[in-house]
Amino acid sequence: MTATIIDGRAAAERLRNRVAARAAELARMGTVPGLAVILVGDDPASQVYVSNKTKQAAAAGIRHFDYRLAGDTTTETLVSLIRALNARPDVHGILVQLPLPPHVDTNEVLATIDPAKDVDGFHALNAGRLALGLETTVPCTPLGCLILLRQVHGNLAGMRALVIGRSNIVGKPMAQLLLQNDCTVTIAHSRTRDLPALCREAEIVVAAIGRPRAISGAWLRDGATVIDVGINRIEVDGKTKLVGDVDFDSAKERVGAITPVPGGVGPMTIACLLLNTLNAAIRAANTRVIEPLEASE
Ligand code: GUN
Repeated sequence: MTATIIDGRAAAERLRNRVAARAAELARMGTVPGLAVILVGDDPASQVYVSNKTKQAAAAGIRHFDYRLAGDTTTETLVSLIRALNARPDVHGILVQLPLPPHVDTNEVLATIDPAKDVDGFHALNAGRLALGLETTVPCTPLGCLILLRQVHGNLAGMRALVIGRSNIVGKPMAQLLLQNDCTVTIAHSRTRDLPALCREAEIVVAAIGRPRAISGAWLRDGATVIDVGINRIEVDGKTKLVGDVDFDSAKERVGAITPVPGGVGPMTIACLLLNTLNAAIRAANTRVIEPLEASE
């Protein structure tokens, strides 16, 4: 079997277009959605992510306010900045690019963000609401993965899903979303025994461990759907190449559908950030005329 390659770029473009149309409608009613983006330090990968986020925000009609801070910025400085942004009516979303330098208290920083402006869905209140199955802002990467899975399968009820990785950003919220979609969910992590045996059982695999090509195609079930969240930079013949957590070449001969890296989950993460920012602005404007946009068409 040769797998269907899931086109994350095309799906992200459709979502961005829907966001842009709704943002224009909101702007005509007097509210331009605004996103504050905070980057601390000069990690090159984070710089690329942040500049992609702000460029795409601008293209969708979302105003962005950029804060590029030195690597030695303190927790206190970040907390003061976030408090000021919480109070600004023209800022509807606040994104703090992670990871923060080790001397910064990430939990304190995230806890300072007004939950209504927490477009990453990382605040404990929003993470808790997701765990309870209540309406909330869902973290962008898992939301993007879910949209792609629903595009492939429609209804996911009863499917056996394996999430590999237990981070607060991807693994845990992904498992919650799959559970809400009536999957039977297993979470694997670095201490899991016999990962290949778990992979063989899974009809859906979401790989989010941050290790290049760590999941071999030989482990996967025939016809499975594989969502590869990994974005790993490796050197091949002196050139930098982006690869996922799944060994794409062996997997594509075996599975039913798979996301490529690049061009799979990455573009969806940014499109979902725009969606979450738009919806935060719609709720703040409280127009009653414009409804928040649904993630799936
Ligand atoms: N670092 C890696 N992924 C993310 C993300 O989705 N949001 C933020 N803020 N930082 C990240």
